Amino acid sequence: MELSSAKDAAAALPQGAWLLYGAYGYTGQLIARRAVEAGARPVLAGRDEARTRALAEELGLEHRVFALDDPAEVAGHLAGVGAVVNAAGPFSQTWQPMVEACLRARVHYLDVTGEIDVLEAIFALDERAKQARVVLLPAVGFDVVPTDCAAARVARRIAHPTELSIAFTAGGPVSRGTARTVLERLRRPGCVRRSGALVDVAPGSLRRRVPFSDAPRACVAIPWGDVVTAYHSTGVGNVTVYTTAPAWALRLSRPLGAALSLGPVRRWVERRIDRRGPGPDAETRAATGSRVWAEARNAQGHIATVELTTPNGYALTADAACAAVSRLLSYAYDGPAAGALTPSRAFGDWFVESLEGVTWIQS
Ligand SMILES: NC(=O)c1ccc[n+]([C@@H]2O[C@H](COP(=O)([O-])OP(=O)(O)OC[C@H]3O[C@@H](n4cnc5c(N)ncnc54)[C@H](OP(=O)(O)O)[C@@H]3O)[C@@H](O)[C@H]2O)c1
Repeated sequence: MELSSAKDAAAALPQGAWLLYGAYGYTGQLIARRAVEAGARPVLAGRDEARTRALAEELGLEHRVFALDDPAEVAGHLAGVGAVVNAAGPFSQTWQPMVEACLRARVHYLDVTGEIDVLEAIFALDERAKQARVVLLPAVGFDVVPTDCAAARVARRIAHPTELSIAFTAGGPVSRGTARTVLERLRRPGCVRRSGALVDVAPGSLRRRVPFSDAPRACVAIPWGDVVTAYHSTGVGNVTVYTTAPAWALRLSRPLGAALSLGPVRRWVERRIDRRGPGPDAETRAATGSRVWAEARNAQGHIATVELTTPNGYALTADAACAAVSRLLSYAYDGPAAGALTPSRAFGDWFVESLEGVTWIQS
């Protein structure tokens, strides 16, 4: 259903309409289908005409086709929508024109990035977003909704927290798009926050045995989005994010990081990624889940922990992105009206428990 002009299209849209960019990608499709299931009717968008139209026709939704080369042109394609959910990643290549277009068109921006540099760049636009009366709400996927809500909650459990440690178990394989993005992230292979600043650390150099309640697990620090978002959510200047890793991966992580900086090795890995399937199928998503743990410490030696379980990361991402955009556009939204926000700052740390299949084990 393509309307003849942006003006016709805008007039035909209901209030609270939103646009999903990157709709025909693996994660974009999950978000589109989840939205329809929940009764929403997003406008689907992407740069490939045939793939965008095919999905829109299948789901009975309006579609718009445009690339992200020129923010002014992109802004013209946002007529009549109140928010954009950007699912087109790696976001290092898409966030800037889309955020710029949203600021010009005065449309809220959401995405599912977890890329540290992208998050830093978006939070640096806080003042511009306030002036434009626009909310910039990146990272409404698995990375970082559960970890951000866990960090915000545990930081409130003790007075003056000075240090946050966050850990998660990865449930199920990653999508092709995530693999490409992770490969990009390996340019910054280890990153933590110390005294308020981002600090690069050698990959595999920070390890910890995390006391998950079902079984303690060997974990390694990774450059995860919370080193940006947990800082903005809590003000705590020391943040480390860990994930589980088998012993061989811990041993190999340093030489692997070094090898990937070599062009031929990198191109070989890229070709392997291109040959993968798009992402875990419905059966795999249904059979896998994750566990998130967070710990706060203060100078007095007080320690608090929280823990929760979640469904598969891609299922949670689709649910969280749809819930976030519909909450933001609803009349009941009572979070900050403008600026760059984290999920817990926009909706409160209980946002995560409103998502399907999320359970606090310790809160
Ligand atoms: N936060 C989280 O927990 C979470 C969860 C899921 C996914 N993600 C992230 O989301 C991103 C997408 O993952 P995916 O598995 O859906 O990947 P995918 O299947 O490869 O889909 C990527 C989509 O982005 C579009 N795209 C990429 N670069 C573009 C550009 N420069 N301009 C316009 N469109 C562009 C692609 O269009 P073309 O096919 O035309 O290139 C495609 O529609 C990845 O960065 C991934 O890490 C994050």
